[in-house]
Amino acid sequence: MAWGACIAALLLLLLAATGGNGNGGVHCLEEGSRSRSRRALQGRHHLRSRAVGGATVLELRHHSFSSAPSKSREEEADALLSSDAARVASLQRRIESYRLIGNDAAAVAASKAQVPVTSGAKLRTLNYVATVGLGGGEATVIVDTASELTWVQCAPCESCHDQQDPLFDPTSSPSYAAVPCNSSSCDALRVAAGMSGPAAACGGDQPAACGYTLSYRDGSYSRGVLARDELSLAGEAIDGFVFGCGTSNQGAPFGGTSGLMGLGRSQLSLVSQTMDQFGGVFSYCLPLKESDSSGSLVLGDDSSVYRNSTPIVYASMVSDPLQGPFYFLNLTGITVGGQEVESSGFSAGKVIVDSGTVITSLVPSIYNAVKAEFLSQFAEYPQAPAFSILDTCFNMTGFREVQVPSLKLVFDGGVEVEVDSSGVLYFVSSDSSQVCLAMAALGSEYETSIIGNYQQKNLRVIFDTSASQVGFAQEACGYI
Ligand SMILES: *[C@@H]1O[C@H](CO)[C@@H](O)[C@H](O)[C@H]1NC(C)=O
Ligand SMILES: *[C@@H]1O[C@H](CO)[C@@H](O)[C@H](O)[C@H]1NC(C)=O
Ligand SMILES: *[C@@H]1O[C@H](CO)[C@@H](O)[C@H](O)[C@H]1NC(C)=O
Repeated sequence: MAWGACIAALLLLLLAATGGNGNGGVHCLEEGSRSRSRRALQGRHHLRSRAVGGATVLELRHHSFSSAPSKSREEEADALLSSDAARVASLQRRIESYRLIGNDAAAVAASKAQVPVTSGAKLRTLNYVATVGLGGGEATVIVDTASELTWVQCAPCESCHDQQDPLFDPTSSPSYAAVPCNSSSCDALRVAAGMSGPAAACGGDQPAACGYTLSYRDGSYSRGVLARDELSLAGEAIDGFVFGCGTSNQGAPFGGTSGLMGLGRSQLSLVSQTMDQFGGVFSYCLPLKESDSSGSLVLGDDSSVYRNSTPIVYASMVSDPLQGPFYFLNLTGITVGGQEVESSGFSAGKVIVDSGTVITSLVPSIYNAVKAEFLSQFAEYPQAPAFSILDTCFNMTGFREVQVPSLKLVFDGGVEVEVDSSGVLYFVSSDSSQVCLAMAALGSEYETSIIGNYQQKNLRVIFDTSASQVGFAQEACGYI
């Protein structure tokens, strides 16, 4: 009977959420956590897509391809959180390197040919995939808002990871063309790379191909040449789309996928290259991992396809010529259970909204203020040891349900975004003896806070690069 009551409470919560009146929520313990079965979505089938009105809709799914034997819930959480920490550290370095480019433009301009682009990409954290058409074939790729260049594995492979779709073969695509070294696209890549390392010449009189190397922090990489081919998004053809044709790709992180879709803000990203078709606007709704559900990636600004249950509120992007591919917003406050959190850290403002980072990471001053408020509201639960990067944990053994406090992010202009109640707590163990606040502290005040995807679930998040704003609305994600 108690379970019935808890389920009823959950239903009420869902109704409240869809009614736009979310105010925290109830999470059923024990049964609730036990039912989180790990259903591996191997993605054997292509993800769907369609064009409707002014929008192109791609189905988004969690990417849980794994060739490793299945681990315990704790081991899996530990692996996920440590790779997430690596991505956050890598993003910090990249943000810093874009700042440095401004001071070092001459060095960048001097560099040629092999262009390394660093990225924080790691599969376990870059966990949403969609299927696109490229040069007549299909490619299922990881979707990443902090990456600029889209790349796929290309024949002939010097080294490639397993992928589900047939390998992209340039020789079988009549519309394929290599991008020459002396082109503006190659220059753009060089700038994006923040160019460091040995500079090779473009190659005498011949217009040599523009080589690229994407190096990931865990030692995996993609290397190949910049190329153009026809990209197809739900039948919408984009001619001469510039992407990386990777003949040497290393690393389990990308296992099963064909590569990566760069949805960053800068010149070579898919968003910039499809400006004519989609006006620089895309949005996503990220589904819960535990359910066998899909979400959607919508290209274009036709909001009639959204299923949002609350009005869209827009926060202005912070513009900065040295922003790189990142989407910066000005975070001015956070409320926990309706209680505003006080921190001097908000004055620094800039935070990134990222699809590929899981756990929101905040500068220590803000994190500590949120943590203190959380501890005071959760005083009735015994504390539990920290787990990986999560240090605000509770032992909820013996409790039947937990009242999840509402968590709101406040952006400049008083724009309030309520985090879905599924994005507030992280259940480390299956027996609810270690339930943690799903946020982490950065190492220093000088780093940049990142809003991760755990806190973006069941939200329609709209990136409008033309109007320079990011919109948010509650939405129960599904392929629409
Ligand atoms: C690139 O180099 C080739 C051969 O040297 C030349 O024909 C072409 O005009 C150059 N393109 C640009 C954009 O400079
Ligand atoms: C959680 O609490 C239960 C019951 O009080 C106890 O038996 C268990 O050891 C605790 N677990 C942790 C991880 O603290
Ligand atoms: C962020 O918003 C605050 C409050 O409106 C403002 O004082 C500050 O200048 C903004 N910061 C940036 C980087 O735009």
